Amino acid sequence: MKYARYFCLVVAVVSAAQARHPVRARNAMVVAQEPHATDAGVSVLKAGGNAVDAAVAVAFALAVTHPTAGNLGGGGFLLARMADGRTAFIDFRERAPEKATRDMYLDAAGKPTGDSLQGWRASGVPGTARGLEMAHKKLGRRGWAELVAPAVGLARDGFVVSYALAESLRRAKRLAEFEESRRIFQKNGAYWEAGERFKQPELGATLERIARDGARGFYEGPVAERFAAAMARHGGLITAADLKDYKAIERTPLLGTYKGYQILTAPPPSSGGVGLLQMMGVLEGLGFEKHGAGSAAATHLVAETMRRFYADRSEHLGDPDFYKVPVTGLISKSYLARIRESIDPHRATPSDQWKPGSPAREESAETTHFSIVDAEGNAVALTYTLNGGYGSGVTVPGLGFLLNNEMDDFSVKPGHPNLFGLVGGEANAIAPRKTPLSSMTPTIITRGGELFMVVGAPGGSRIITGVMQVILNAADYGMNAQEAIDQPRFHHQWKPDKLYTERGFSPDTIELLRQRGHDVETNTTGVALVEAIIVEGRGKDRWLAGGTDRRAHGKAAGY
Ligand code: GLY
Repeated sequence: MKYARYFCLVVAVVSAAQARHPVRARNAMVVAQEPHATDAGVSVLKAGGNAVDAAVAVAFALAVTHPTAGNLGGGGFLLARMADGRTAFIDFRERAPEKATRDMYLDAAGKPTGDSLQGWRASGVPGTARGLEMAHKKLGRRGWAELVAPAVGLARDGFVVSYALAESLRRAKRLAEFEESRRIFQKNGAYWEAGERFKQPELGATLERIARDGARGFYEGPVAERFAAAMARHGGLITAADLKDYKAIERTPLLGTYKGYQILTAPPPSSGGVGLLQMMGVLEGLGFEKHGAGSAAATHLVAETMRRFYADRSEHLGDPDFYKVPVTGLISKSYLARIRESIDPHRATPSDQWKPGSPAREESAETTHFSIVDAEGNAVALTYTLNGGYGSGVTVPGLGFLLNNEMDDFSVKPGHPNLFGLVGGEANAIAPRKTPLSSMTPTIITRGGELFMVVGAPGGSRIITGVMQVILNAADYGMNAQEAIDQPRFHHQWKPDKLYTERGFSPDTIELLRQRGHDVETNTTGVALVEAIIVEGRGKDRWLAGGTDRRAHGKAAGY
């Protein structure tokens, strides 16, 4: 008896030590990549705002406190599922300016110049203010100015710089290239230290205009005039007309299933939702999970599935308003079965021997993500970005916000890898007003009509595989939100033909993967940073469990 009690105690202590706990709350939850932004969202929820209201507040706050990706000068996707079953997907991604041309980033010899990554010519027309306004008008409940106010306060009064932000700003070489960015974000070379208060009065003034005039305060009037004049002075392409004409687009989210779960996710111009549904559709019949999380056999099967999707991505995905994306064909049961049958459980398929498929066409660096669930069960997954860390490096003088380098997400030349090593062709070629292909994958999952998970991530090409692995960890292995995120991840994107594994894979697992023919690059650091909320239990046992990616410095909080 004495021994039995001792044994129980030991088991309890060991399992508590092994389990990585999410943050749990009864009513509502926000997980975001920066703590001040999480707190802004929780305050809005506590004041009676819904998940969409909180999303607006978090997004504007991140534009102040997380300048590597939070933005006014970029764009993204917002996916909402309301408790009454209504859904909305808002595409506020950047669009190519009217003056953009197909070969604008090639020199006379046809070689990429690198201008798609840095400087005034790298930016698409920003969409953030319009997208947030559209979401708020459609589904929000609190006053707009009230939701912008926390960001105004953070910019005007400042906030205390964390170790993570100080390090990130110091290391951002691109910021040092542009006078206004160097002045604001690097104190002209003196750098911000952890513990100092960082005030951004110019950004505060821009946000105040948005608070007062709505998105029009950004796209028209003094802000737009100053923005367009600076563009013209520096040889950039975005004009006052581009800004005035920018429209966010409401699209129908993709809906698929996986083992009894309903998956609501991002449609094109994201490649993320198609990727998620194709890969999970292939995996559903593959039996990978019986080998166990982290095993060489399961990793091999999932990696082969990834390889095949990224080949399709290179050929078939682009802006659906410019290119007929064969969405239905890419996730049809017969096409998934063909992909499944092509996978050898014991041998990697060299990428040179695997080409993009022919689906039926019959149908009609740095980013950031946050997930929110409110007290009524409304859910928002929002991913937005400047593309690379600190975007193009350019801060518009006097306005305080950084500009994106999202034009690099186009295929600047067929077969030429972008920032994330992704290749593309016709479907993703540059054209005026076109939207560059994205990997952002905000996703909401239900089971039996009940909310199960809200998830998404930054991480360029690794977003789709990161989001999928966290979903599989929860759905197939029963991990809680934090464990599912913490589990070491891997990534394959067809080209380059490499299997990237994070620290945490054992040497003998790596060896088994190499024996199957994979070119394994170990200890990769560039993985997606997943922020997820899982609904645990029902009725009085119901908890919202928030997991934040410990590879970054975010915060999950609720009440
Ligand atoms: N800029 C990264 C993405 O949209 O995929």
